Amino acid sequence: MTGAMREKTKLAGVIGWPISHSLSPALHNFWLKQHGIDGVYLPVAIKPEEFSRAVAALGEAGFAGVNVTVPHKEAAFAISDLRDERAEAAGAVNLLLFRNGRIEGRNTDADGLAASLKQSLGADFLRGALGVVLGAGGAARAAVLSLDSLGAREIRIVNRTPQKAAALASALQAKVRAKLFAQGLGDWNQAANGARLLVNATSAGMKNSPPLELSLDALPLDAAVCDIVYNPLETDLLKRARARAHRTVDGLGMLMHQAVPAFEGFYGVTPRVTAELRAALEKALA
Ligand code: ATR
Repeated sequence: MTGAMREKTKLAGVIGWPISHSLSPALHNFWLKQHGIDGVYLPVAIKPEEFSRAVAALGEAGFAGVNVTVPHKEAAFAISDLRDERAEAAGAVNLLLFRNGRIEGRNTDADGLAASLKQSLGADFLRGALGVVLGAGGAARAAVLSLDSLGAREIRIVNRTPQKAAALASALQAKVRAKLFAQGLGDWNQAANGARLLVNATSAGMKNSPPLELSLDALPLDAAVCDIVYNPLETDLLKRARARAHRTVDGLGMLMHQAVPAFEGFYGVTPRVTAELRAALEKALA
């Protein structure tokens, strides 16, 4: 893999604006090295107004595909010639594959979160139970689809702006088996009652953002708490959850699992999520 790129070198990357803090290059490069693949994975900064032109250029330059992050996931959805079921349900695309002259849009976020929760909590942890999702943006949408795929009976969407929670619940109800309810943060105590899992899908708690202001007192002690934020790895929410002896799941799990189908699509090899990968990413974060 040292030396110049060759014609057969497989190209892929991640596009976003900004992109310098993305962990995806560290993640994919770990797997490239592990599998001895002649490939590169690059972070590519693309301004929103240049999105379509830049994506077309990457396809023409021979990229196998790209991961898509903030703020391009909806634009990636719109530009896709065909989309998988997950992308259709999410209304957003986090993976573009350039195949046979067409742009294939996929969304691996919901399955990535489900795989992470399964690995940490067991496959049946949420079956027939009640899940609570905090937030009503794109991440919350993926979280609702994810909890539904894990067999949740009921999912309560709790958001600072209750109208957005209501809009998300009505947009998703026809696509899921779980019964969806929308609530404001003011109804948190009621929403937490009987919950088996709480997922923070807001951006609160991220580095340089204020922490989530939410007391965990109302949460049953056997509930697990998951944060999709991974920088910092242990958010204030997870720290407080751990202090109350809740089982916790950090955001790195979702990041690693959502990348598996992407790597497979780019390089043709199915990689594994291992403790070594996690250690490498924790090092990259620190
Ligand atoms: P994404 O697509 O990544 O989910 P988004 O669409 O900007 O991002 O959504 C961010 C979510 O985090 C929203 O649900 C937002 O709540 P509002 O709809 O009320 O804006 C939520 N959020 C951000 N900061 C928050 C904070 N400090 N406390 C509570 N919720 C917060």
